[in-house]
Amino acid sequence: MPARGLILGIESSCDETAAAVVQRGSRTLSSVVASQIATHARYGGVVPELASREHLRAIVPVVRAALAQANVTLADLDAIAVTSGPGLAGALLVGITYAKALAFAQNLPLIAVNHLEGHIHAVLLNERSLPDGQRSPDSEPALALVVSGGHTHLYLARPANGSWTYTLVGRTLDDAAGEAFDKVAKLLGLGYPGGPWIDSLALHGNPHAVPFSFSQIKPKLHLAGKPPRTKAARTVPIANLDPRFLFSFSGIKTAVLRYVQLHNLRPEAESRRDALFTGPAAPGNSNRSVNSLPGAPGPASGTWESKKPTTHKPPTTQADALALCSPQTLDLIASFQHAVVGDLMKKTFAAAESLAVRRILITGGVAANRELRLRFTAEAARRNLRVAFPTLALSTDNAAMIAAAAWPKLQSHDFAPTNLSASPSLALGL
Ligand code: KG4
Ligand code: ZN
Repeated sequence: MPARGLILGIESSCDETAAAVVQRGSRTLSSVVASQIATHARYGGVVPELASREHLRAIVPVVRAALAQANVTLADLDAIAVTSGPGLAGALLVGITYAKALAFAQNLPLIAVNHLEGHIHAVLLNERSLPDGQRSPDSEPALALVVSGGHTHLYLARPANGSWTYTLVGRTLDDAAGEAFDKVAKLLGLGYPGGPWIDSLALHGNPHAVPFSFSQIKPKLHLAGKPPRTKAARTVPIANLDPRFLFSFSGIKTAVLRYVQLHNLRPEAESRRDALFTGPAAPGNSNRSVNSLPGAPGPASGTWESKKPTTHKPPTTQADALALCSPQTLDLIASFQHAVVGDLMKKTFAAAESLAVRRILITGGVAANRELRLRFTAEAARRNLRVAFPTLALSTDNAAMIAAAAWPKLQSHDFAPTNLSASPSLALGL
């Protein structure tokens, strides 16, 4: 049994370089996240080559900062955990290569963690820090909705011998929910990532003004054997899934586009884009934590860019964006968010009922959404179910969730091979 149960987690699957030290899967000693939002914002989405370059710049100072903030050295650690997939191949490789080198040099076990399992453990990590009586026992099965920029997946998570097993219950056939937030925000001339902008502006619109609807996924569509058009992990055959628990978010994006064209909202969106497009800042509950790392070398962009002279305009705020939105645009934003949250709720609660699960975990970047948290919490209370979320900081990508997910694997000696490589389409569970 490891002496102190200290695991260094490393995460670099997309556009955050993160490191954290977590003790025994429950006590977070440090969690450092270097965001690349500034780099990618000017392109309106993640540019894989730039992501790899930024991870290379950030990985060493981020890991150093995580160790320093936890007040531990490499010699104190019991294992190193790293995200092995799914994600961008080049981005994953930066974290994996560095983790392998550290593990080899320190003679520590290396643990490979699936990013999606990490997101689920972000909720469990948070739950374990709650006082007894406020948390579900770890032995209870749960329905987990992982809802982020790359994934909208429903899993049945079951505890088994101190570890967890996962069965895929539902998923998106095309865009992830977070991707829909990002694309709609881009269409409306708002910043990147779009979720936090839409979240804060939706508070000022009428959610019932535009009646968006989601059609039921037809059994025929998924039985035709077509692979889903999603970028996410794709190994589980869609035909095995109940169509009631399948999602599709590409249609609502087109519906928003049509509404914009029909109501001539495009000139307003374009002038907003010119006025707002600046880069790093996201408004309201933007939960992409940006850590300033003392003593870090000055990269050309990313977390430390604000220290350098910049040709960009100063960061814009929610108030700036609000002043540039007509009441009709605010109604559109509020209605879009209301519809997406409603669809996530409908299918998640239907799956919970069908599987007779009384515990629901919601995680991933979109789980930071205020309306989503409020409505899921209210509906769960109405149905006498328990719903849990990660903290806002642990909703989006971070490494504490990777270190927490690695704890059961350390106990069962589930270690990675020395030739561990990136698995961009890694699936979770059966
Ligand atoms: O989990 P995450 O950091 O990365 C992935 O694994 O994809 O999720 C990022 C996604 C982005 O699409 C972003 O727009 C969305 O989460 N997001 C939100 C909110 N905060 C982040 N979506 C809705 N409301 C939010 N408050
Ligand atoms: Zn993620």
